[in-house]
Amino acid sequence: MENIFLAWILIWFPQLAAGSGCTTPLQVTGAVQKIDGGNWFLVRRVRPGNHWHPSTDNLAGTEPVYGHCDANYSAAATFGIPFSTFFYDQFLFTSGDLSEYAVVNVGEVYDEPMSSVWRVTTDQSKWGFQGEMQVSSLSTVPYNVTWYLREGKPEDPILSTGNVGDYKPATYVYAEASATNFAQDLASLSGANVFIRKKHGAALSMTPSQIPPPV
Ligand SMILES: *[C@@H]1O[C@H](CO)[C@@H](O)[C@H](O)[C@H]1NC(C)=O
Ligand SMILES: *[C@@H]1O[C@H](CO)[C@@H](O)[C@H](O)[C@H]1NC(C)=O
Repeated sequence: MENIFLAWILIWFPQLAAGSGCTTPLQVTGAVQKIDGGNWFLVRRVRPGNHWHPSTDNLAGTEPVYGHCDANYSAAATFGIPFSTFFYDQFLFTSGDLSEYAVVNVGEVYDEPMSSVWRVTTDQSKWGFQGEMQVSSLSTVPYNVTWYLREGKPEDPILSTGNVGDYKPATYVYAEASATNFAQDLASLSGANVFIRKKHGAALSMTPSQIPPPV
């Protein structure tokens, strides 16, 4: 009897069969929490292969939930968890094996913290824009790099621990739209991840508008 009921449920809610997606950033354990003080929450992952993240929200965190979330950040899983409504001030981009990583302040990526509007280069003759890296697999001190955010390129933003245009292997940490360019190392480095955290102040928290009114 229970099986018939379960079958009925799965016919009407097929996403349950595949496992449902997560709606809050995932608390994870392991070596990633040793990177720059830890407190990282997983929000986006793409499996080993030759395609980047399927999302197309320019890292705003507004992409609706997709995929079956997995706290194992080297698993063969591709998923995204909406995060725009959470207070965070840093991103951590990593390869699945953590051999590549980059810690970036939100203000280096967006025009203003939490604005979800990207910085664009003032020099339109250049494709890239300059961003400051805090800590990465290449350096323990801050340095500036050039990333890509080009008009009409769904795969952008393209982020790298070095200058994107240098085409160095094993440096690319983020791209979108299931793109295949710059994805040559995703298979050997166990895919790629995006984490967020609130470095300054309390742990990752929700926006005031999300806090339920007192009863
Ligand atoms: C995470 O996934 C990888 C790839 O499938 C696997 O090798 C590893 O054992 C998993 N780790 C844990 C803790 O389950
Ligand atoms: C990166 O560039 C910005 C803007 O030019 C500058 O203010 C900042 O000091 C630079 N950071 C480093 C680490 O060089």
